[in-house]
Amino acid sequence: MGRYDDQMNFARTKAMFHLPEGVIYLDGNSLGPLPKGALARMQTTMSDEWGEMLIGAWTRAGWMGKPRALADRIGRLIGAPEGTTVLGDTLSIKVFQALAAALELRPDRRVILSDTGNFPSDLYIAEGLIRSLDRGYTLKTVAPEEVAENLTDQVAVMMLTEVDYGTGRLHDMAALTRAAHDVGAIAMWDLAHSAGALPVDVTATDADFAIGCTYKYLNSGPGGPAFIYVAPEHADIVHPALSGWLGHEAPFAFDPDYRPGAGIERMRVGTPPILQFAALEAAMDIWDQVDIHAVRARSIELTELFIKLVEESCPELTLATPRDAQMRGSQVSFRFRDGYAVMQALIGRGVIGDFRAPDLMRFGFTPLYLDEADVRGAVTILSDIMTHRQWDRTEYKKKARVT
Ligand SMILES: Cc1ncc(COP(=O)(O)O)c(C=O)c1O
Repeated sequence: MGRYDDQMNFARTKAMFHLPEGVIYLDGNSLGPLPKGALARMQTTMSDEWGEMLIGAWTRAGWMGKPRALADRIGRLIGAPEGTTVLGDTLSIKVFQALAAALELRPDRRVILSDTGNFPSDLYIAEGLIRSLDRGYTLKTVAPEEVAENLTDQVAVMMLTEVDYGTGRLHDMAALTRAAHDVGAIAMWDLAHSAGALPVDVTATDADFAIGCTYKYLNSGPGGPAFIYVAPEHADIVHPALSGWLGHEAPFAFDPDYRPGAGIERMRVGTPPILQFAALEAAMDIWDQVDIHAVRARSIELTELFIKLVEESCPELTLATPRDAQMRGSQVSFRFRDGYAVMQALIGRGVIGDFRAPDLMRFGFTPLYLDEADVRGAVTILSDIMTHRQWDRTEYKKKARVT
């Protein structure tokens, strides 16, 4: 281990996060930890900007420009050129916006193709949009490995999440986008489990739309704003379904008729969450210093080590994540019938991962603040819990509202 130590000092980035004493945090794929700089940044935004400037801060503190300015900093991690990405709302809303716009680009087609590895909210949003449009659209959901063969000239939009939230399986974004374009379909990618986890290049892969959240690997905090990328060739053509006032060409003209703003501006909806932006800004101050390729290389080292150690010491657990590192994102999942109870026992001993029904124990690997000692420490505790059946207690089997 340590191939990238010279170029990327991960001990330095680890010191930039608040990690509670005695905790090994393997859930940054769900909610990233607190960047220490966020506390001061929030404080400044609240007291110096909101407190002192009041409404004038929209201009004087540059609040109105944040959705674009911060999105451009995320753009560096996903291959999006300046001015092609904007932030706001939550990811489910961005799924709706992107899908509605994508469908309009293929008015003669009626199929939305997705896969069973997509996140439920993406599929639910598609179902809701189909119902409200009432134009005979269907959502076709196939196995992840069967997407390519189901791409036909009926497909309007191929809507996929690059890294499966459950298993961590990674789609070949470039190949599938090419295959979608070959049949004339629009390619829409959810990067929730990709942005900050591995290098993504929406430009090189020729994605039409990409969306993602910032509270997982990017560490913007709970409820942090989501991003939407629209390929430059579509940005001035699409008609926003969520035609809010801040996506208008001239919001402060208060014109009764909607005219979309220029390019990506039209994907703005309403008032941006400025306090969340302050936390995201602090998180991006860390990301600006990081080489995402070094993060990926270290993430592979950490996941390889975790898989090896768990398989050696916990034979009851079955690997659910692709064994080939090139075929997975930055998480590792193991199946176990009583996985929920095992996860509760782990959390009780300071190793935090999470559980996804019916039997997946998920562990996220985030090199910015996790190292080899954390991986070894987590597996020692997991192996102890499995060997001594410490999970087999009523208190660990009672399901909480959030798993
Ligand atoms: C792949 C994916 N898409 C969509 C969502 C929904 O995001 P939000 O709750 O921010 O709307 C999630 C949430 O975890 C997700 O993992």
